[in-house]
Amino acid sequence: MAREFTNVGVVGLGTMGAGIVEVFARNGIDVTAVEVDDAALTRGRGVLEHSTGRAVARGKLSEQDQAALHSRVHFTTDLQDLAPCQLVVEAVPERLDLKKDLFGRVDQVVGADAVLATNTSSLPVTEIAVATSDPKRVVGMHFFNPAPVQQFVEVIRTVVTADDVFEDVKGLAERLGKKPVVVGDKAGFIANALLFGYLNHAVSMYETRYATREDIDAAMKLGCGLPMGPLALMDLIGLDTAYEILDTMYKQGRDRLHAPSPIIKQMVSAGLKGRKSGRGFYTYA
Ligand code: CAA
Repeated sequence: MAREFTNVGVVGLGTMGAGIVEVFARNGIDVTAVEVDDAALTRGRGVLEHSTGRAVARGKLSEQDQAALHSRVHFTTDLQDLAPCQLVVEAVPERLDLKKDLFGRVDQVVGADAVLATNTSSLPVTEIAVATSDPKRVVGMHFFNPAPVQQFVEVIRTVVTADDVFEDVKGLAERLGKKPVVVGDKAGFIANALLFGYLNHAVSMYETRYATREDIDAAMKLGCGLPMGPLALMDLIGLDTAYEILDTMYKQGRDRLHAPSPIIKQMVSAGLKGRKSGRGFYTYA
């Protein structure tokens, strides 16, 4: 019988993690939201409050539903609180050592039937799975930014993922109003494998002063009908995250399309990480 997933955990409350918490809680699912310390927890709670506040202001969510949504989320810094969760989605920074360590620990906390999912964008899910005692219950569940808006989820199936595990996660994605696709464990899966070469190329055009940021973005937004230009999208994704994804894809595929344009690293070092830091290619209020 398919798992119901009425009680899930999300570890890591950055841009993606906080968005994923919102998606679950909006759909009536109880969420245990975990961060490393109180400061990070406060930041994650702030992202959630800002997002639902915006939905209320736009008349898309009633104040009553907003309160109900928030009441479904339990914020904690204690991984042990994940014990009753039927599914845990990890959304910590894109570092393999960090993710492997976390999966090893979460594996010891949850019940034998629980599913462990990573929201990684480009790291090998198989490597993460083998850090647990039961790799067949590990799957990729890759959401897109902003998670509450984008209606697509990649479900990554490794060579050892059990059939019932990826089927149940696929069913859950559908319940959340997302279109799931099942994909193999290859860097970038479908969307990022296609997207990031293009984003990197746009950054390189900007870096070499081939065109201005506004003209590059206008070309793709107005000329090609995309919802936003590539540099604005880099700011939305976060330059630190974009760098990590490109770097991982480059190391795995050695395609120079993915060799990160040097300016990305320079901007990250200077604290220009995009929207989340108030400045990236553009400045945000
Ligand atoms: N959280 C919650 N809701 C948000 C949001 C956020 N961060 N940003 C926008 N929204 C909602 C708005 O509230 C609004 O909702 P309603 O229509 O219900 O009122 C809706 O989205 C549209 O927002 P806006 O009117 O403010 O702006 P827009 O129409 O320009 O849309 C956008 C903004 C949704 C970001 C759109 O520009 C877009 O889809 N851009 C492309 C994003 C994209 O490519 N994402 C994938 C990135 S790659 C990735 O995520 C993979 C990875 O591994 C990094």
